[in-house]
Order: sequence, then structure tokens, then C-alpha cells
Amino acid sequence: MAKAIKKVGILTSGGDSPGMNAAIRAVVRSCVYHGFESVGIYRGYEGLIEGDFEPLNARSVKNLISRGGTFLKSARSEEFRTEEGRLTAYNHLAKANIDALIVIGGDGTFRGALALGKEHKFPIIGIPGTIDNDINGTDFTIGYDTALNTVVEAIDKIRDTAHSHNRLFLVEVMGRDAGDIALSAGIGAGAEIILIPEQNLGKERLIESLRRSKKSGKTSSIIVVSEGDKVGKNIYQIADYIENTLTGYEVRVTVLGHVQRGGSPSCRDRVFASRLGVNAIDALLRGEYGVMIGVQDSKIISVPFSEAIKGENKIDKELIRVADITSI
Ligand code: F6P
Repeated sequence: MAKAIKKVGILTSGGDSPGMNAAIRAVVRSCVYHGFESVGIYRGYEGLIEGDFEPLNARSVKNLISRGGTFLKSARSEEFRTEEGRLTAYNHLAKANIDALIVIGGDGTFRGALALGKEHKFPIIGIPGTIDNDINGTDFTIGYDTALNTVVEAIDKIRDTAHSHNRLFLVEVMGRDAGDIALSAGIGAGAEIILIPEQNLGKERLIESLRRSKKSGKTSSIIVVSEGDKVGKNIYQIADYIENTLTGYEVRVTVLGHVQRGGSPSCRDRVFASRLGVNAIDALLRGEYGVMIGVQDSKIISVPFSEAIKGENKIDKELIRVADITSI
């Protein structure tokens, strides 16, 4: 029979995302509600390997719901990719009498959780936290909505100056392997063209599109480029290509960068993170381990880690069509 859960460890790992704090808060308070102890693990798997732990209670997570980032801090751990690293981590868990782990992060975090869980038969539940929205099996990830709002606000401002100077702006948004931020924020900000890794538009079609825009009377344009896009080597190369191929274009580049990862989480992210935190502890109570808690069609679901880390990012074809039509 599985060991009864008394003490739960919580960590955040990989790139931080707005709403991670709200998820930690929900996990800790859900632990209190069900009579479990909870322990914060600092700097993700790095802190797990070093035994950097601190007991948490309902008041340790006060005033956190509105704060971006993660108060437990985050890291990408190379050592945790090794069996030795994971053994050291497991020994720290055993020494601290931690019976189960909640990990908040992206696919790298779940890969680590899958390995640790299998090697040491340790109960682990995952919560998807990444602005990229690139986790299989969940419609949304914590931080994605806030990042979209940040990007749209920034592009609205860029549009003002683009319009004043009749310029073409290329705006790079995050998403190493996923175009979700680019596609949704691009539609939301009224971008003329959206370049995403899942669909290589190609340089010729990009130029064709710009020619058509100009002909239709557009004097300024915004192209949203996902950082993982494959049209050019990078956004600067695409800008050079456009300037060298088309006449009469004054091109500027803005790379939004890590501004997208910060800021106070949107209400949607706060509620979503709170739901996932509470449901993660519910899953532990049911004895359901090795799964990520996510959402599909507004319903909370659990997805095995092996599924969550699978495959390429799927992009919503309907959104591509909407973007194509509304940018005419
Ligand atoms: O967390 C996801 C992400 O923000 C990606 O969109 C981006 O490519 C990457 O992290 C950046 O990582 P780092 O903060 O380590 O530079």
C-alpha cells in the first residue's frame, strides 16, 4: 500500500511565469486545509539537490497572489538531468520526510519529475507554468494570459509610433518552439503578419504579403515574429532582407524579451493557478501520481507526464485563418 501523505514539497523550475506564486499559495493553503505539512524548495531542482528547504504555512504565502515571478525562485538544473543528481535530490527528500512533491514548470520540469518519480517511486504531481503555452494535454499554462496582455500592450504602443512615421516594425516575442504567444497576441494587437515556428511562411510569401499591404493603402505595419520562427536566421536578418528587397520601407526592430515573463498576473492566470494548485493536492489525495494537472475545454484534467512532454506544439488552425482574414 502507498505511504500516507503527511508532508508535501513544492518547487518552481524552468523559466518563471506570472501566476506561479498564486499556484504555490493555492498548494500551500490546500495542504493546510487537508492537514498536510508543506515545505518550499528553493531554486527548483537545484535547491532540491542542495536540500535548500523551508517549512511553509498559510501565512508564508500571504500577499503573494498579485506578485509576478516566483518567491521560491527558479532555475534550470543541469545536475538534475543526471541519475546521480536525482539520487542526491531523493536523499534530501527522504531526510526531510517529504512524502510527495508538487512541481510547477514546463516540459523540462516534467521530464525531470518523470525520471525522479520512476527511479525512486516517488509521488509527484505537475502544474504547467510557462508563458509559452507549449505543454501537451492542457489548453493553457500559467502565465500565458498575462504574457499575452503584456505583449498586446507593448505592440499597441509600438503601433502609435509606427503609424506616426509610416514605418514597418518587426516585434519579436518569446516562444522558442511555440508560436502561441505570437499568434494570439498578433491577432489581439492587429498585426499585419505573424511569423511562427509551426508554419514557415517563407521569405517570398512574406514579401508578397507586404507588397499587397502597401497596395491596399497601408502606410505602417506590424510583423510579430516568434523567437523560434524559421523564416530568417533571426529577426535582424529578416529586417535586412525586407529593406534590401523592397524599396520605400523604413524598418525598425523591437525585441520584447524578458519583459514578457514579469508583471502582476492577470485575474485569469490567478484563478487558473489557484484551481490547479487545489486540484494538484486533490490528485495526491486520490493517490494519482506522475501526472500533470491541466485544463481541457474548461474542465480540470490529469495527464501523465509521459503525455505532457510529448511531441511538437500544436497550433490552432482556426486562429491562423482568423489572423489571415482580419489582417487584410
Ligand atoms: O520559459 C520559456 C521562455 O521564456 C521561452 O519563451 C524563452 O525562449 C526562454 O524561456 C528564455 O529562457 P531564459 O530565461 O533562460 O533565457
